[in-house]
Amino acid sequence: MSTSVETPRAGVIGQPLPRIDGRLKVSGRANYVADNIVGDVAFAAPVVSTVGAGTITALDPSAAEAAPGVLRVLHHGNMPRLRRCPDDMANKLKASEERVPFEDQTVYYAGQYVALVIAETYEQARWASHLVKVTYHADPPALTLDEGAARSGIKPQEDEKTERGDTAKAYREAPVQHDATYTTPVEVHNPMEMHATLARWDAGRLIVHDSTQWVVGQAKSLAYVLDIPEEQVELHAPFIGGGFGSKLFLWPHTILAAVAARVTGRPVKLVLPRQHQFTAVGHRPATRQHVQLGATRDGRLLALRHDSLSHTSCVTEFVESCGEMTAWLYQCPNVSVTGSIVAVNVGTPTSMRAPGIASGMFALESAMDELAVKLAIDPIELRRRNTPERDQVKNVPWSSHYYTRCLDVVTERFGWSRRSVEPGSMRQGRERIGWGFASATWPAIRRQASARVELRSDGSARVVCATQDIGTGTYTVLAQVVSEITTLPFSQIEVAIGQSGYPPGPISGGSMATATVVPAVAAATRAAVTNLFIAVTAPKGPLAGAAPEAVTLRDGHLHAGARRIAFRAALEQLRTLPIVGEATTKPGEEAKHFSFRSFGAHCVEVRWDPGISHLRVTRVVSAFDVGRLINRLTARSQIEGAIVMGLGAALQEHSVYDRRSGRVVTDNLADYLVPVHADVPEIDVSMLDIPDPHIGDFGAKGLGEIGVTGMTAAIANAFYHATGRRIRDLPLTVERVMET
Ligand code: MOS
Repeated sequence: MSTSVETPRAGVIGQPLPRIDGRLKVSGRANYVADNIVGDVAFAAPVVSTVGAGTITALDPSAAEAAPGVLRVLHHGNMPRLRRCPDDMANKLKASEERVPFEDQTVYYAGQYVALVIAETYEQARWASHLVKVTYHADPPALTLDEGAARSGIKPQEDEKTERGDTAKAYREAPVQHDATYTTPVEVHNPMEMHATLARWDAGRLIVHDSTQWVVGQAKSLAYVLDIPEEQVELHAPFIGGGFGSKLFLWPHTILAAVAARVTGRPVKLVLPRQHQFTAVGHRPATRQHVQLGATRDGRLLALRHDSLSHTSCVTEFVESCGEMTAWLYQCPNVSVTGSIVAVNVGTPTSMRAPGIASGMFALESAMDELAVKLAIDPIELRRRNTPERDQVKNVPWSSHYYTRCLDVVTERFGWSRRSVEPGSMRQGRERIGWGFASATWPAIRRQASARVELRSDGSARVVCATQDIGTGTYTVLAQVVSEITTLPFSQIEVAIGQSGYPPGPISGGSMATATVVPAVAAATRAAVTNLFIAVTAPKGPLAGAAPEAVTLRDGHLHAGARRIAFRAALEQLRTLPIVGEATTKPGEEAKHFSFRSFGAHCVEVRWDPGISHLRVTRVVSAFDVGRLINRLTARSQIEGAIVMGLGAALQEHSVYDRRSGRVVTDNLADYLVPVHADVPEIDVSMLDIPDPHIGDFGAKGLGEIGVTGMTAAIANAFYHATGRRIRDLPLTVERVMET
């Protein structure tokens, strides 16, 4: 039996410490982009295309220009020249949408920016944005995968391919076969804080406050687009109200705000309305996935085929990598994975929490459940029989792999052994009860990062890194690492993040921030402590005469033999302050010798009332192997939030497009449903909390995304168990689950 998340342990690492920025947030003092008050600020409001495809034949800004307070109207006819940002992650350059705003007169999707009004007040800008008269030649938009394929074809993606063995033959000859197609709809991130940018120019320097998941990349990419030296751009993101992938890379509105500030000579604030969330800043694209499974009668996989198709926009190629995990999650000698895209007239899709895998696991884990039914083998037992010894793609051992222990934990905590196999056989009153299972997985990514730690005369420490906290607890994690190593009280650690000029730290994406930044902060802290030992043992230092290597740090004191001095007293006596430690860390040889992944398992209970076609998720029990937890409180919040997101994806979330205009019909939180508290059941999260021995200091594998993976399949599988009906198209809305 694993430790649950509540198990106490010594030290600061792992403790369930509340966010150090929590007080600022709940008291309204945390400064989000829109909160910034700047003298002389002007406001910008985009004008968006009302047609889904076509051409702008005329754009008349005169009425808008004559409206009260209007400073400028930008459009294709007067837009300064911009450069397209290359897709070059190695150099920290990436735009979510490659086409720069107003680049041509073509309309690629409804909601595309066609003009920008800049005015003295927010209200004046919004009012005048309605006065820009745009005339279109409208074409019928292609909105679905089929319409896009019929118009411009399907583009296979070489990068998405994995082939192992002879899948066609193995499938043909397999004693038990399963073949089905699954679909997932467009889903939208909808963070609480809307996308917003405040840009101002100061003597050729561009200072931007932006809600971004990557201060470093955003500064560099923006500099590239504007064709100015990257040192001239300063990006601030002290607080971000969620991102989920929609704030990873540069979007047009940030570019527009910077250009607007330049042409007006004023600071410009641009806050997107909620409607633009549905068109202008990404979404999880629709997918169609064909899965074939071949197995022996005792449930060993012989063949696994996973072909996926996802949509992209007409201006950028985004690929939803649905087959990312298919070749390594289960033991199987013959595997064929492909991925293709098709361009449609919708806004550009982007990464959304667990991109690829969240969509792909709906298909793979539904298919595994269907196979289990055909084999008459318990679905958890089927997973046990196909648990891989090592990563069959990279052909290396796992860095750590406690997947079967996750199965043990969920089986026990959920009470899975009491499940009666026959669909519809578990009932209570009018309700049928369904119990479903699915696996969870996500890569455990670590990259390069730098950090600086300063030990100050007042006995406090400051840690500095150009990463950011998107609401997940990064501030707190950094303070914990410094506190752990220095033994300084947690409250004595100041964390400075959210600025592009700091030592370059990680993107808050791919669940890689913690695993990436923790080793850098640990190394910088150790370097600072070493420098402190050197300083205190120098002539006239408080521990003069002792060898630096002989000094130790315990309970907030420096010890050298029998001598000791309080950390703060020692620092007060030093003349050269602060004592600084700097470090840059990155993965080493271990990256080649091991496969780094996180694993998990979900058991879900649903209750189905056929009389009123009411489907509820009533219990979720999940367990995760995500390495060591740095903070059990924020870790659990991450997982719970992801599980709730999976619940929304399973039951509610999907964008609806008007077939004639291509506009999003559900462009608000009244029509686009997400789970509210009343939809969220008891969630029982266990984390094994076993450090990964290879990933770096403290052994954290990252956990921002894994919780959402597998959730949709676990719920659909539970619905099957309750009703005997298999639904292969998400979400399980009332129209789909109703008995007809
Ligand atoms: Mo995540 S989709 O990498 O923010």
